[in-house]
Amino acid sequence: MHTPAITGTGVFTPKEIITNAELVEAFNAYADKMNTANAAAIAAGEMAPMEHSSEEFIFKASGIERRHVMDKSGILNPDVMHPLFRQRSDDEPSLMAEMALDAAKKALAQAGREPGDIDLVICAASNMERAYPAMAIEIQQLLGIDGFAFDMNVACSSATFGIQAAADMLRAGSVRAALVVNPEICSGHLEWRDRDCHFIFGDVATATVIERMEEAKGPHFEILSTRCATQFSNNIRNNNGFLRRTRPDGLKDRRDMQFMQNGRKVFKDVVPMVSRHIAEHMGDIGIAGDRLKRMWLHQANKTMNDLIGKKVLGRTPAPEEQPNILQEYANTSSAGSIIAFSQNSDDMAEGDIGLICSFGAGYSVGSVLLRRHG
Ligand code: COA
Repeated sequence: MHTPAITGTGVFTPKEIITNAELVEAFNAYADKMNTANAAAIAAGEMAPMEHSSEEFIFKASGIERRHVMDKSGILNPDVMHPLFRQRSDDEPSLMAEMALDAAKKALAQAGREPGDIDLVICAASNMERAYPAMAIEIQQLLGIDGFAFDMNVACSSATFGIQAAADMLRAGSVRAALVVNPEICSGHLEWRDRDCHFIFGDVATATVIERMEEAKGPHFEILSTRCATQFSNNIRNNNGFLRRTRPDGLKDRRDMQFMQNGRKVFKDVVPMVSRHIAEHMGDIGIAGDRLKRMWLHQANKTMNDLIGKKVLGRTPAPEEQPNILQEYANTSSAGSIIAFSQNSDDMAEGDIGLICSFGAGYSVGSVLLRRHG
């Protein structure tokens, strides 16, 4: 059996930024427009008026200050309210592949690796741009990687589930070095016309190189153990899919064809589920909470992370022990914990132990225990 290690990570950050102020201004203009268009129905009591969003609420409820997106012009246009992308020909790299490629090249450079050293690509993300061929195979081809590639989707937990899949194959010897990429175009499935959630997501791509520890060329993180768990819930759901046109009204502009969640319920269910999962994972491999130097948690909600951190450590974590990036990126689904790891791990010392943990729709939770070397 080989010991797997993370030897490189990379983050692709879209250039365009939407601040909470810009987001709220666009949403409120849309709400006013809808209320004017439906004034008669509202006056007759047949319809409730749309309420304004607020910057104060967004920051207080989530900790989010801004988000990076692939196209802000459509999102901020009250006549559009979603991103607008140009049509690409089938011979051009797809958008997700382009984002993943940027992150992958950074991760490979950090690991000191060439694409030819990799023999497995997993594209693990919440949404795939098309049904097939797999995004991962396109990314494999664009990078010039031999071997094999496949897609997987476990929503916000996709990255940690992908790392577990790659680490297990590495241990068993079926692959030598893997690239796990997480291109997340969350702006595409977010309902920007719903104030309950319009502030939640941003776009980004992350990549992780995993290889045999004895072959690492520089500082790296030994993968001590991984653990994944799932439990079915409808509290985060998106009904869009390939059977859409087959169902009555399936092609209509329906709310359930975008991201939907019962945020309060998710919060209440997921905090204890994740805290228990981490405690059991660490307990089973004999690592006490006080040995954990850092936690890179899923980036959905600051209060949620504060509560999980406190339960795991048995005290309030210092900000550097549990770095958050959601203020800058918002929720980037599976990529969030990997951005936190990538941007806040270089300073760790030989032997330091840390934990990546992601959680979300499914429900799903994945944890990766790491030890720093070099
Ligand atoms: N601006 C102003 N007010 C808003 C608003 C907005 N943008 N959005 C909602 N509100 C209102 C609500 O209508 C509600 O009003 P009411 O009390 O009169 O009914 C009130 O603010 C509270 O809304 P609620 O949705 O209950 O807020 P919350 O404190 O639960 O925060 C989330 C919402 C989504 C930030 C929070 O529940 C959360 O992060 N949950 C976990 C989500 C998660 O991790 N999901 C994983 C996704 S991958």
